[in-house]
Amino acid sequence: MKILSIETSCDDTAITIFEAKGTIKNPRPKNSGGQASFKILANTSNSQINIHAQYGGVFPALAKREHIKNLPILLQDALEKSKLDKKKKPIDLIAVTYGPGLEPSLWTGIVFAKELSEKYLPTGRQVKIPIIPVNHMEGHIMSVFGKSEGSFKIPKVNFPVLSLLVSGGHTELILSKDWLNYKIIGETLDDAAGEAYDKVARMMDIPYPGGPKISKLAEEERNASPDAFVQVLGSRGPLPPPDHSQKHTGSAKNFSFALPRPMIYSKNFDFSFSGLKTAVLYLIRDLKKENPNILQDEKVKQAIALEFENAVVETLIHKTKKAIEKYKPKTLIVAGGVSCNEHLQREMKKYINKDITLLFPEKKLTGDNSIMIGIAGYLQYLKNNKKISNTKSIKAKGNLRF
Ligand code: KG4
Ligand code: ZN
Repeated sequence: MKILSIETSCDDTAITIFEAKGTIKNPRPKNSGGQASFKILANTSNSQINIHAQYGGVFPALAKREHIKNLPILLQDALEKSKLDKKKKPIDLIAVTYGPGLEPSLWTGIVFAKELSEKYLPTGRQVKIPIIPVNHMEGHIMSVFGKSEGSFKIPKVNFPVLSLLVSGGHTELILSKDWLNYKIIGETLDDAAGEAYDKVARMMDIPYPGGPKISKLAEEERNASPDAFVQVLGSRGPLPPPDHSQKHTGSAKNFSFALPRPMIYSKNFDFSFSGLKTAVLYLIRDLKKENPNILQDEKVKQAIALEFENAVVETLIHKTKKAIEKYKPKTLIVAGGVSCNEHLQREMKKYINKDITLLFPEKKLTGDNSIMIGIAGYLQYLKNNKKISNTKSIKAKGNLRF
C-alpha cells in the first residue's frame, strides 16, 4: 500500500511517500504477510531553523505560518518525485503527527491531512483516504528502524525494549514489552536534555538550536591537550564547585569547576535538567564578574560546554543503566534529536552490556522527520487490524503521552 506521512509538530515540515507491505512478526506471528518493509518513493522536508534562530527558540505563530506555506509545496514536490499515477490509486493511507508538540504546528499537519483525504481522490473514487494519527514520540522510537532513502525492513526485535528518548521537548525512558506497547518509567520533571543544551547555548550567545554547537565545542575541548584550559583560568585559580546537595561523579579532568549530575542519587528513573542549566548560568555570571568579556574566549566556552555535556551524558547513562538493571531489556533504543550526540553514542556503546542490542537512528533520522511517522503509522494500522476510526475526530494534542 502507498502511505503519505506528514510531520509538523515543531519547526520541521516534512512529507514522505512510501510503499509499505508485510507485517510485524509479533503480536501476530501467524499472519503470513511477511516482515514489514518500506520503500521510500519520495522524502521532502523543510527546516525553519533560520527563521527561529533570531528568537532564540521556536516561535509558535511563525512555525504555524511556515508549515501552512510549506506543506503544499512539499506535497507537490513529493508527488512529482514519487511519480505516482493519480488516475490509479495513488495513496491508500495518510499518517499524520497529532502530538505531542506545539498545538498550532500540529493543527497545520492535521488540517492538511484532512483536506488531502477528501480532495486528493483519484477519478471515480468515492472513499476518502483514511488517516491514522501518530504519536510523535512513538515515531522517534520507530526512527531506529528507518533509512533516509531507499528500502528497509523492520528487523526481528527482542523484547523487552527500553527506549531512551532525548529531544528538545522530551527526555524519557519507555519500556515496551511488545510491539506498540509503551510504559513511561521515567521522564524529566522540568527541562528536556535538548532544551538544556539550547538554553546553555543561549547563555553563550550561540544561536538556536545550540545542541550541535555545544557538542562541537565540548568535543574540541575533550580532544585538546589537558594544559590548554589551565592557561585560561590558571591565573585566577580554581573555582569552588557549585553548592548543590548532589555530589557529582567527577569526570572533569582538564578544568577547575564542576557542575552537578542531577538526580543521580534519586531512586526513580526521572530526570531534571533545570538545576544543571541554572548552575551554568551562575557559573557564567561568576566568570563574567571577573572578566565581562570572558565568553569571547573560545577556550572558556569549550570548557563550559565539555563539563555541561559530561554532566548530561553521565546522567542519561546512569539512569538508563539503573533502568536496565531493573527491567532487563534485550534491546535498548536511543532516539530523538540529542541521540546524534557523539559523546552520548560513544559512552552508551562503552557502558551498555554487549548482550543488549543497542539501536540508534541513522544520523539524518535523529531529528524530526516524516519517515518515522510513516513507519509508526503503518505499524499502528496493522495493529488496528487495518480499521481506521473516524478521521474527522482527529485533534492536535500538545501534551499527548503514551
Ligand atoms: O527531536 P528533535 O529534532 O525535536 C524535538 O522533537 O524536540 O530534537 C531537537 C533537539 C534540540 O534541542 C537540539 O539542540 C538537540 O536536539 N540536538 C543536540 C544535538 N543535535 C541536536 N543536542 C546535543 N548534541 C547534538 N549533537
Ligand atoms: Zn521530535
